[in-house]
Amino acid sequence: MKIFIDTANLNEIREAASYGILDGVTTNPSLMAKEGHKDIRKTYEEICKIVPGSVSAEVIATDYEGIIKEGRELSQIAPNIVVKVPLIREGLKAVRTFSDEGIKTNVTLCFSPSQAVLAAKAGATIISPFIGRLDDISQPGMMLIEQIVQIYSNYGYSTEILVASIRHPMHFVESCLLGADICTMPFKVIQQLVNHPLTDIGLEKFISDWKKNQ
Ligand code: E4P
Repeated sequence: MKIFIDTANLNEIREAASYGILDGVTTNPSLMAKEGHKDIRKTYEEICKIVPGSVSAEVIATDYEGIIKEGRELSQIAPNIVVKVPLIREGLKAVRTFSDEGIKTNVTLCFSPSQAVLAAKAGATIISPFIGRLDDISQPGMMLIEQIVQIYSNYGYSTEILVASIRHPMHFVESCLLGADICTMPFKVIQQLVNHPLTDIGLEKFISDWKKNQ
């Protein structure tokens, strides 16, 4: 299971990278805007320096020519940039072109298994099903992951399944059990994966017992 952080906050990325468990970063236009990043190129250069693994940079354009222009520019920033493309008709066309050119893609805003099949057929490197947003509208997000894992296995698609829109640690655990390839999580959820009250209680006791014996 690869662990990605879902943020454009450089301090959070640095901190998560320092744990030695971080495989990549995903961003989106909302996350970039939240941090007030105006110089997009400089921000991605910085992120790519911190994390040598995959860094997803999303296009803003929604027409084929625009997506291609933006995606080619983004892909030039660093060798580990993966161009994030929305799962729309123009996006699929662009993913096919990028795939033919050897540019890696992360197809985002996937909410159905049929969309995931089309992304794989277009040559996507990564598919990003959004599970939290499905849960938010009372549809079981994890069921989508189960279906995509099964379908990709049926046909031997090499597109990696990145579980996105993760809200809590059980989304991560269930994704591991289902055999998804990547989970991207906010910094807060990465922290929650580490924490356990029995670890804290146990450590406190070890240290106090040790001190009593000094
Ligand atoms: C990741 O690639 C997505 O942009 C992100 O996980 C979306 O998460 P959200 O539904 O919490 O905004």
